[in-house]
Amino acid sequence: MPHTMTAEQEMVRLMARDFARKELEPLAARRDREEIFPADVIRKMGTLGLLGMMVPEEYGGSGAGAVSYCLALQEIAYSCASTGVTMSVANLSTEPLLKFGNEPQKLSHLVRLARGELLGCFALTEPGAGSDPGSLQLRAEDKGDHYLVNGTKVFITHGAYADVVNLIARTGPEKGNKGLSAFIVERGTPGFCVGAREDKLGLRASNTVELIFEDCRVPRENLVGRPGLGFKIAMSALDSGRIGIASQAIGIGRACLDESVKYAHERRQFGRAIGSFQAIQWMIADMATGIEAAHLLTITAADRKDRELPFSKEASMAKLFASETANRASYLALQIHGGYGYTKEFKVERLYRDARATTIYEGTSEIQRLVIAREVMKG
Ligand code: CAA
Repeated sequence: MPHTMTAEQEMVRLMARDFARKELEPLAARRDREEIFPADVIRKMGTLGLLGMMVPEEYGGSGAGAVSYCLALQEIAYSCASTGVTMSVANLSTEPLLKFGNEPQKLSHLVRLARGELLGCFALTEPGAGSDPGSLQLRAEDKGDHYLVNGTKVFITHGAYADVVNLIARTGPEKGNKGLSAFIVERGTPGFCVGAREDKLGLRASNTVELIFEDCRVPRENLVGRPGLGFKIAMSALDSGRIGIASQAIGIGRACLDESVKYAHERRQFGRAIGSFQAIQWMIADMATGIEAAHLLTITAADRKDRELPFSKEASMAKLFASETANRASYLALQIHGGYGYTKEFKVERLYRDARATTIYEGTSEIQRLVIAREVMKG
């Protein structure tokens, strides 16, 4: 496990921090309030290599690796958790092609996704298939030179802005997680449109929509991997995705901690700064300890990914612990701020709402425990 960052990792972290504090922090509250998806900022992130961090340079990525990715994403999410989830899903969207795509698909799509010239999204969830994607219904019928796609996906992060959709569809007669296949579908393909936008509790500057497919003809060459491999492609992309969400949660947690420390020094009650009370100090100590532990778990998972070791269990541990820690940290930060924390005047109100999603998407805490327990009990 790397206890110290390499010079390159530290450079990436500082670059992301500088970008986040200048480009995200000043407008994050307004973007949240007015639900503005910062498409221009996302494009800039692409040019900085932040959307293809785990893709090697030969395929247009920055080749920075998973550890650098975690450090950068923490910094982005610290300033704007909405942009954090956008960055996480954009990077996740490079994984299916990187691991399972053929050379022409890599050259036509992966390179442009990794450079940020195209924005990718990941479409797995359906109205009746959330924690259990093996029950998904969206159908892609094999018609020879194309597949005919019919069905609906929901809760798709930046689906309205994505140029390329990583779509998981049912192609075979097999039940459950067998008989699923993965495709790339381009925006503008006839029969594919964006449906309703979700009105969310938090992460309001990230876009979350329904995607609708009606007799949509997807060329055969857009099949990723072989038919029937869809579930495994999705699960393996989610392993990386979970490292991203863990990092987003740590960024939120660190912001909660910093806001709390600042407020504890400024706010005076009973004639002294509230930070001089042990009750507040213990909250801060618990937050700091949880965040550090979450960071170490996440870096461990990322380091294993960089070294091409299995990391499903470690990614689930990181996601579980970091997301629960961010929720606890946001609760404590709001408690420290008292009544003011409950108003939109203070950043902790947004952090509290943003943290909530992290224990839900990319696998709930209950699903992470299931993954961890299965791995641990395999013997
Ligand atoms: N990598 C590769 N293969 C994997 C895998 C992984 N991580 N996990 C499982 N598989 C394989 C298994 O080896 C198995 O293969 P065989 O049939 O050849 O043995 C096959 O997939 C089926 O595995 P399981 O029996 O474990 O499958 P299951 O139906 O019991 O489901 C689950 C397991 C862990 C519950 C899984 O369904 C799951 O992760 N659910 C949560 C889904 C989720 O995270 N959704 C998030 C939506 S995306 C999102 O939120 C993005 C966003 O926008 C923010």
